[in-house]
Amino acid sequence: MQIIDELMESFLKELNYEPIMQMFSHTNSGKKLRSKLLLSIAGENELSYKLCAVIELIHLASLLHDDIIDESELRRGAKSVNAKFGAKNALMLGDILYSKAFYELSLMDSKIAAVLSNAVVNLSIGELMDIHLSLDFNADKNTYLRMIYNKTAVLIEASARCGAILAGFDEEAFKEYGKNLGLAFQMIDDILDIRGDEHTLGKPAMHDFKEGKVTLAYIYLYESLNDEEQLKLKKLFKKDLNIDELEWLKLKLTQNQALQKAANEAKKYGNLALEAIKHYENPKLNEIIKAMLDRNF
Ligand code: IPE
Ligand code: IPE
Ligand code: MG
Ligand code: MG
Ligand code: MG
Repeated sequence: MQIIDELMESFLKELNYEPIMQMFSHTNSGKKLRSKLLLSIAGENELSYKLCAVIELIHLASLLHDDIIDESELRRGAKSVNAKFGAKNALMLGDILYSKAFYELSLMDSKIAAVLSNAVVNLSIGELMDIHLSLDFNADKNTYLRMIYNKTAVLIEASARCGAILAGFDEEAFKEYGKNLGLAFQMIDDILDIRGDEHTLGKPAMHDFKEGKVTLAYIYLYESLNDEEQLKLKKLFKKDLNIDELEWLKLKLTQNQALQKAANEAKKYGNLALEAIKHYENPKLNEIIKAMLDRNF
């Protein structure tokens, strides 16, 4: 993973503008799920490292923009770039990372370039869907699934597919693996927002509902409440909650098994992912699913 971090840094150094390096050095390294996935499929060599660095640049750009959108002040255990340097800088650093990543892709295999750049179109559409969905209380599960597929699963799907392209494996099987892994990954991320603490997550906790994000556990909760409680839940939507309201919300989410149901759903998609690539008998891909489901950050 250090090799990938160094490659990202050297890509950005080529741009020859000190504020880029200053802001970049403020961002900590992430879990590198997308890189681990690609390397587990394609194996470790110069080309796959380079592609991982490109994908991590893209992913980091999406996080820079996401933290502006979500008004989030903490990322990877440090002040977010928007909190530290302001939204204008975070926005442009995001654009620079995307554009440099696309430039590097243009020098690579054209199919890989097409797959990844198209994934970023859909990721951005997914973030736009998330913004639009946050305007009102969305209790529709299929709408939620479509949105998380775009904003999160598409890039993970594309990373797995690129791994398969490099290795000469069945693209469809690895796409299916990546898609289901990605859906489960965002479901767990949404559960951790409720169940986790800021220190362990390295990003804000109990932040989604305040930002208008009715994630899977809230959808299940809504379905299980009576009319009066449904109204109460809707009143708390997008509000700064006091201690009593927070306690009520967490109690209901647990009592009504909403968190458990969401975790079961994530597990279901994890199993679908494994089913898709079972003929490959690659233990690393099983471990990725297990670690993703069991994680606490
Ligand atoms: C965070 O992605 C954004 C989501 C898609 C949920 P990661 O959880 O992969 O972020 P890092 O790279 O490990 O920080
Ligand atoms: C972000 O989803 C997905 C992308 C960055 C495209 P979230 O908004 O849930 O991610 P976190 O929780 O801030 O990492
Ligand atoms: Mg966010
Ligand atoms: Mg977001
Ligand atoms: Mg989140």
